Amino acid sequence: MADRMRILVTQKVPDPAYPLLESVGDVEANREEGVIWSYETLLHRGPGHEYLFCLVTDTIDAHFLETCAAATPRLKLVAIMAVGYNNIDVAAATRLGIAVSNTPGVLSDTTADLAFALLMATARRLPESERFLRAGQYTGWGPLLFCGAEVSSSTLGLIGAGRIGKLVAKRASGFDMRVLYYNTHRLPLEEEKRYNLTYASLEDLLRQSDFVSIHTPYTPVTHHLIDERALSLMKTSAILINTARGPIVDEKALVRALQGGTIAGAGLDVFEQEPAVEPELLTMENVVLLPHIGSASLQTRTRMATMASQNIAAHASGLRPPGILNPEVLTNI
Ligand code: DGY
Repeated sequence: MADRMRILVTQKVPDPAYPLLESVGDVEANREEGVIWSYETLLHRGPGHEYLFCLVTDTIDAHFLETCAAATPRLKLVAIMAVGYNNIDVAAATRLGIAVSNTPGVLSDTTADLAFALLMATARRLPESERFLRAGQYTGWGPLLFCGAEVSSSTLGLIGAGRIGKLVAKRASGFDMRVLYYNTHRLPLEEEKRYNLTYASLEDLLRQSDFVSIHTPYTPVTHHLIDERALSLMKTSAILINTARGPIVDEKALVRALQGGTIAGAGLDVFEQEPAVEPELLTMENVVLLPHIGSASLQTRTRMATMASQNIAAHASGLRPPGILNPEVLTNI
């Protein structure tokens, strides 16, 4: 009888993933909720598995991949339960003939919901007002009490108009917002019309928007796309929303911009050195901070875990994984 495949799961994931994985092979898993393995633990446990089910918290770099490629059995596929995969060295994986897959599509609405919720919470100062009320400071309705920024009919600038950006635009249309977008390539006119999007250069978008929301992947090109200069182009009343990846924003420059009144506020679900957060941000009332929960509904996380498992199951059956990122390594599929 042929040996069963060996699968490693690096964090506790929604339950429906396990039976599917167990139908493919022997599953070794970190089942302790909230425990994130260090890079050293990953390097110790990873080699000797054909399949790796990983998360955005795992550093899957060239050294790790080379170690897993040199082990027996050899690593065949890295399946991340996320749409973003900047923590994986896909070029190194491709060079080593290791497939990489992600889970696009199944989390777009949920992440767009969160981006819009964060925009609303920051604009209308919801966490700050709630802290005030819970602290027993609410003594009565006031004409100036927690006046925030107007959302309806304002201008929203989307940096990135892919799956998630377009769904944020769809939500914005319910608020009669004018929506500008900046993208590496302009969308077909039909899509611009469908989502009520107006194409703008990055500079024009930054200058004209009341809210700037980031929906682009993190790559060497988007590293610190929002830096001191970009922030200086924004309106002093503008609010920056980031639910994409932390290092797209120069967090130290953002702190200076918030302290100096260059912009009015920020809503952040992601950080440059996650899980660390620039200490000054923690003290600012005009900033709303969330622990990377963009896709965090149980239904969506279950869909993501299922899709990551399906990527593994497909590859093990000699089929093309639905979320394959480097199909060039699938020589026999
Ligand atoms: C992703 O999918 O890239 C998120 O950051 C994690 O849900």
